[in-house]
Amino acid sequence: MRPLILALFLPALAVGCSSRENYLSFVDYFPGSPDTKVILTAPHDGWIRLESIPDRRQGCYDSSTNACDWRHDCSGVHVEGKCNAVTNSDLHSSVLAKEMRKTISELTGETPHLVVSRLHRSKLDPNRFMDDAAQYNSVAERAYKTFHGIIKRVHNILAAKGPAVHFDIHGYVTHAADNWTEIGYNIRTERLNANNFTAEESSLRALAARAETRGIDFDSLVRGEDSLGRLIQEEEFRVVPSPEYPRPDVGKEEGRPGKYFRGGYITRKWGSLEKGEIDAVQIEFPQWVRDRSDYYGPKLGRAMATWIQKFYPDD
Ligand SMILES: *[C@@H]1O[C@H](CO)[C@@H](O)[C@H](O)[C@H]1NC(C)=O
Ligand SMILES: *[C@@H]1O[C@H](CO)[C@@H](O)[C@H](O)[C@H]1NC(C)=O
Repeated sequence: MRPLILALFLPALAVGCSSRENYLSFVDYFPGSPDTKVILTAPHDGWIRLESIPDRRQGCYDSSTNACDWRHDCSGVHVEGKCNAVTNSDLHSSVLAKEMRKTISELTGETPHLVVSRLHRSKLDPNRFMDDAAQYNSVAERAYKTFHGIIKRVHNILAAKGPAVHFDIHGYVTHAADNWTEIGYNIRTERLNANNFTAEESSLRALAARAETRGIDFDSLVRGEDSLGRLIQEEEFRVVPSPEYPRPDVGKEEGRPGKYFRGGYITRKWGSLEKGEIDAVQIEFPQWVRDRSDYYGPKLGRAMATWIQKFYPDD
């Protein structure tokens, strides 16, 4: 099916018209089919480096409150290792998300919603609170509100129909460290490593409660028989957490540091951690997966579709 794109300007045009930006041009929204239970987001694959938005940069650090001030004219101090702004893009993560969406659509009969940020991460990072994300630039703030406003609209549509799931698609570049796929449910690395975690600290809190009534425990949902990790593992990925790699620190046994990311702002804000019936999952992919999205996207989409059909079935 042909995606409907809400963007009103071509990217080249949007870059050139800084005085009269159309803010929708900074976000692509590909609507899902009416009965889908799924939204995909790609916040870090934007390519537009609008000159009128200064690059995001390190904030001032206040040690007494352990807080960051992201204003570019902040009067505090810059402290090494504190308040760093990550500005590299997760290249091709939106291409991978599109391939997943296509396969999920073919296998489940319902096309997921997809929201893609088009501003480069050096200008806007939608996976942060707004002060860090847009660093008080009004154009970036408007793009941020557009991105999250579309997500809110989609979540409202999904929530009206019951349980649903939000996949936030990312990538990383430090391959030598571990070179695996990381699935984040907001459970901290040290909690996974200690085999001591609960549904209450997770972005799958709503799913965990429903699964429990089917006799499925949370450990199995996160890294066992009933996990997304198992299905992705079966597509021949090295993936954590999964039956094969249940904790980040098992990477160490292979001489790697066990790199892991539990998910960011989107996972916490839009998942079921605090409320609601929409769960969230952030997935980090190595660059070589994103570079061959046409090959890996359908495999991942197949794993996701199986998990969706099991836990977010049609009414
Ligand atoms: C990561 O894994 C892929 C696929 O197995 C391989 O092609 C690549 O060389 C690996 N990269 C590193 C840095 O280990
Ligand atoms: C598990 O975590 C809880 C909450 O942080 C802590 O109180 C408890 O001591 C931990 N249990 C073990 C066995 O480490």
